[in-house]
Amino acid sequence: MFQQAGWQKRRNIPATHVVDGGIYASERVFAAEKTHIFQKLWLLVCHESEIPEIGDYRTTEIAGTPIILVRSEGGKVRALLNVCAHRGARIANNASGNTRKFTCFYHLWSYDTDGRCIDIPRGEGYESVGVAPADCNLNQFRVEVRGGLVFVSLAPDGPDLDSFLGQSLHALESVLNAGRKLEVFHFHRSVLKANWKAWMETNLDLYHEFMHVVLRRTQMTAAPMQDRKVDLFPNGHAGVGGLKGNYGNVKSWSVRGEVPPLPGLAPTDFRFVDLFPNSSVIARGTVMRIDIAIPVSPHMTILECRGIGIAGESAADRAIRIKHHNQHWGPFSRNLPEDTFAAENCEMNLGTGQARSQLIGREENATGQDDALLRNFYAEWSRHTGINPSSGETING
Ligand code: FES
Ligand SMILES: [Fe+2]
Repeated sequence: MFQQAGWQKRRNIPATHVVDGGIYASERVFAAEKTHIFQKLWLLVCHESEIPEIGDYRTTEIAGTPIILVRSEGGKVRALLNVCAHRGARIANNASGNTRKFTCFYHLWSYDTDGRCIDIPRGEGYESVGVAPADCNLNQFRVEVRGGLVFVSLAPDGPDLDSFLGQSLHALESVLNAGRKLEVFHFHRSVLKANWKAWMETNLDLYHEFMHVVLRRTQMTAAPMQDRKVDLFPNGHAGVGGLKGNYGNVKSWSVRGEVPPLPGLAPTDFRFVDLFPNSSVIARGTVMRIDIAIPVSPHMTILECRGIGIAGESAADRAIRIKHHNQHWGPFSRNLPEDTFAAENCEMNLGTGQARSQLIGREENATGQDDALLRNFYAEWSRHTGINPSSGETING
């Protein structure tokens, strides 16, 4: 088929400002991401308020590895491999719950909240082969909590969490250090028919404000573009401050003064932090949102969305806070479905080889709608995968 060369002809753009379309659909790239990113780095997995009491647990997965996050008898959060030591069944099959022991449904082997195997029914049958409960404890992973955010690393060693995060959460410190005064009031999971990076791009791409009807009204005119400040941090993290929301510009939306804002924020403040590789913590004056993009395949991602507010507040305040959350970020909100559409729409071309490359080339001196966050993300991505994002080729390979 004759195709007249169009934008594919563009020349002289620095390699750092272009992403090759092939890195989304490739199984080779996906395998490298699993090995060198998701099985190595610290990953945000949930908020501490989701498992406040002894025995509270929730299940998740990290690039295919099933995990139980549980508050153990001693009060410590543990990350246990959700795989039975007997025949490999998944031990905890609910999204969340409370238990003092996990009993596998298949042959009823039991494990305590520290992951110790505490019962093997008719265990005497294993005596002659030397299998005892003490040999059958669940594998567990490093887990740390900072400012209520729970992080897990599948790697047995490597940098500690504080070295990994550096100063990246600083802009949200006043909010996060409220600690257990915050709680998750909204959680949903959805399946995104797109590569996980395409979702992260929606949170790294400042320029796409144009797509969101309400952001055109509430945000783009609320504060000068040059007042925005993009902060890039080591290890691929980034943050943006200096954004404001002028919520009264949307008919029927409140101006956001009716409930106390999150600690340290004005009701109209908007700040966010993108944590490499797959999460974002986003605070809009009165509510906070956490996004976690869990890769399933090159073309599929589970998106976990959490809404966070102030624990112990009145039902009336909570109702207003939920409304504020849902206006932007609920499943039927203004922004979330638009971002989902954007990621899945690009996937139709990126995932099929029709989009040869993406441009991440805006330069605005770390203000306005600079693409520096995207370039920072892909520089870090390349550092771990050993793949050149502008060509999709293995570096020195
Ligand atoms: S597979 Fe879990 S008890 Fe048998
Ligand atoms: Fe968006």
